[in-house]
Amino acid sequence: MNSETFFLADRLLREGDARSAANAFRDIVEAVPEHVAGWRKYAEALEKLGNHDEAASATQKGNAVEADHITEVGSSLFFHGDEKRAKSFFTHALALDEDCLSAHWLLGEYYSNLDDKKTALHHYRRCMEIAPDRQGPSFMIAALGEEASPDRAPDDYVSGFFNWYAEHFDSHLTDNLKYTGPQEVARALRQARPDGLEHVIDLGCGTGLAGVALEGLAARLTGVDLSAAMLERAKATGVYQDLVEQDLVNALSVQPAESAEAAISVDVLIYLGVLAPVFVELARVLADNAIFIATFEEGVDIEDWELSSSGRYLHSENYLRKLAADSGFGVVSISRTTLREEYGVPVPSLIATFEKRR
Ligand SMILES: C[S@@+](CC[C@H](N)C(=O)[O-])C[C@H]1O[C@@H](n2cnc3c(N)ncnc32)[C@H](O)[C@@H]1O
Repeated sequence: MNSETFFLADRLLREGDARSAANAFRDIVEAVPEHVAGWRKYAEALEKLGNHDEAASATQKGNAVEADHITEVGSSLFFHGDEKRAKSFFTHALALDEDCLSAHWLLGEYYSNLDDKKTALHHYRRCMEIAPDRQGPSFMIAALGEEASPDRAPDDYVSGFFNWYAEHFDSHLTDNLKYTGPQEVARALRQARPDGLEHVIDLGCGTGLAGVALEGLAARLTGVDLSAAMLERAKATGVYQDLVEQDLVNALSVQPAESAEAAISVDVLIYLGVLAPVFVELARVLADNAIFIATFEEGVDIEDWELSSSGRYLHSENYLRKLAADSGFGVVSISRTTLREEYGVPVPSLIATFEKRR
């Protein structure tokens, strides 16, 4: 399908051959379902033929496609810090298609950030109505305190979010959010093991920012992530020998015992509340004296962990110390730092280094 096909179909319509035009436009939208003008013209041809119901349905499809395009532009603005303009795109999208899932989802996030819980909940509930099989909306409703917090974020929420975010991830995090986590963790690992390592596992490797910062330190670097789109980018860095698309606990559970000398996890354990399964598996997979360096969002005045309204989990320093003691790790250090910002505000973070005891 090319633009010539479209103009030929349009000429048929202008010349009064609505039947042939409708057939041609139907072929166009079947071949390219995101062709907004194709849907519009198809609806016009159907209307001329007196097929009002089909015309209305084609108009609705065109609106839905256009609403998705508009939301995509808005999401780009959103990720680059222009939330107000982004919101007007999302609202415009909903005026075209009141069931536009991505617009409701992003408006949920927009209002949640403004602490307008009621409006945020409205949009997340609309997401649940539109896509009842998705787990993200009910997770965010729990994050807003309306339901009990699950132990961890649902896999399909994490993979869905990062598959969609992958394209913007590096530039958004490093330019807009002043993200330094991968560099800080890589620096800590290089300092702790300056002579190099045989095998390092990067849990939740994302696009590979930490892998790149670690280049040359390990003979073998394994990256694990739930998001295929993030892994594609990690692969393109060329620094990982193995990449595994799986939940990190499941991926660890199939690694041989004592098969790595270090593991890192940068800005990932914020998607899990209960961390005992991670520490238990790491204790099995890591060799004696192996090192585990991870970052966390710090929860002050909380017992162990808490799901925050951002949809990320906070952990207390005490909880990390308890986990380490219970699973056979010593705590080398836990320090306070800022690994990134959120809406211009530094996010209080912890960077922790654990060593597996003999
Ligand atoms: C904020 S990104 C950080 C990526 C990378 N570590 C970095 O610092 O650039 C979080 C990553 O963790 C992954 N992730 C979250 N939960 C996970 C899980 N349970 N198992 C595997 N990957 C997970 C996400 O898919 C995403 O790529």
